[in-house]
Amino acid sequence: MDARWITVTPGADGGISLCMMLRPKRVVFFPPTYYFYYTLSKIHELEIYDPSLVDDLKIPDVDLNEGDMVFIPNPNNPTGHHFEMEEILRILKSPATVVVDEAYFEFSWVTTVNLLRNFPNLIILRTFSKAFAFAGQRFGYVISRPENIEKLDEKRNPYNLSSFVMELALEVLKNREIFLGRIKEIEMERRRMFEELEGMGLKPFPSQTNFLYFKVQSADEVVRTLRDRGVFVRSFWGGIRVSIGKREENEYFLKVLKEVLKI
Ligand SMILES: Cc1ncc(COP(=O)(O)O)c(C=O)c1O
Repeated sequence: MDARWITVTPGADGGISLCMMLRPKRVVFFPPTYYFYYTLSKIHELEIYDPSLVDDLKIPDVDLNEGDMVFIPNPNNPTGHHFEMEEILRILKSPATVVVDEAYFEFSWVTTVNLLRNFPNLIILRTFSKAFAFAGQRFGYVISRPENIEKLDEKRNPYNLSSFVMELALEVLKNREIFLGRIKEIEMERRRMFEELEGMGLKPFPSQTNFLYFKVQSADEVVRTLRDRGVFVRSFWGGIRVSIGKREENEYFLKVLKEVLKI
């Protein structure tokens, strides 16, 4: 893409924060969703409207106005599923600004980039944190029409990335095939983990990301017990999100989970 359509940020969180600096009247998101939308909205002191996903994790029908900014993580975190294009289109046809957070794009290859031509209200976020294992270095980018990028650049600290990180990010790009090759391995492990969890009587959500999510009773307590056994996972909205690790890590997780849940 032409550089005028892109700006760079410290991770996708930097992109979320930058969008929020446009000071929307209200931010809108649909839980279960990426919890940091709450954190950053509070930091930016923005009004939050957060109706839940409905019927099998679909985006609810909501009244949106000019001045609203809607955040849609696609694929979604923590469920790992991606939304249908019609659901996103419905929101894009509203007067709101729509931020589609494609942090996990390289796992799903579903994107709204081709909609930029028709929707001036669309802003897309990407990051090197997930597929490129670059989270600690903080590098992300925003794609939108040049007039939106100009507005974002007015709010952006021009020195928001160090020259060291920029050099490293270029190296990642040069070697992207190595990283993208690893995604196949993650997908294979995810499929295996999915089946193992189903075999344990759990119901993991189909995932297009590098993690799986499933509901359990007393999720917070299970997470604490797992932590005592050296397994670090997160609980969100009454479920557990586990990242796909190396095969031996996944094996250990499954073994300890079985013991904790007494399966
Ligand atoms: C949907 C979503 N957006 C953004 C981020 C933040 O990523 P980054 O490390 O690039 O700030 C995450 C990280 O978990 C995420 O799940």
